[in-house]
Amino acid sequence: MIVRQLEVTWLGHAAFLLLTPGGKRVLIDPWVMSNPVCPTAYQEIKSVDLLLVTHGHFDHIGDAVSIARQTQAPIVSVFETSLWLSRKGVDNAVGMNKGGTLSIQGIQVKMVDAKHSCGIQDGEEIIYGGEAAGFILTLEDGLKLYHAGDTALFEDMALYGERYRPDIVCLPIGDRYTMGHGDAAYAVELIKPRWVIPMHHGTFDALPGSPGEFAKLVGSRAEVVILSPGQTRAFSPAFGGVR
Ligand code: NI
Ligand code: MN
Repeated sequence: MIVRQLEVTWLGHAAFLLLTPGGKRVLIDPWVMSNPVCPTAYQEIKSVDLLLVTHGHFDHIGDAVSIARQTQAPIVSVFETSLWLSRKGVDNAVGMNKGGTLSIQGIQVKMVDAKHSCGIQDGEEIIYGGEAAGFILTLEDGLKLYHAGDTALFEDMALYGERYRPDIVCLPIGDRYTMGHGDAAYAVELIKPRWVIPMHHGTFDALPGSPGEFAKLVGSRAEVVILSPGQTRAFSPAFGGVR
């Protein structure tokens, strides 16, 4: 059932809170408590219907264990990371892998590739967490959102654009650990979304990628939606976006 427009709130870095057209709260890459740019109001997440984790690095898996334990919401990640979450006392860890689609909480969750690593820091150890991934979500009103996770530019992004036609894409632009704004602008040419939200920038000095430079390079190829942490933007197929 569709009860509202999709609302996307950026919590800083790669963390996004979606309020879906069906009224579900979906939290992607839940690094909030120690995320230096996450607004205080979002540092404690008390209710959520679905958690998605792109990979095991601390700035993405973040507070997944505590939020999943508190809310009992299902948490989707690549298979090996889900085994680690289970070992940490998470009851609702849901494993999947790239290419697969999962229907969960009324949302279609497809896991896709990302060019990145996925070790999980666990005390002194680095645990093998499987591979880093991205997600393409199909929401209740048909809108599709692609969260690319941490990634380099790669050619399969053109395939994802052609095959899945995402309306909204969240792309890392920070550089050093992911692609920077130049490669991310090229990724927009490959994916051809209507809207693109830059992420993974401005959190630390080590991330020089600039949303302003990114917007200049993208030009009129897509609408660049630059959010500040805590800011929300609504999206609807009624606004003419869906191909
Ligand atoms: Ni990472
Ligand atoms: Mn990262």
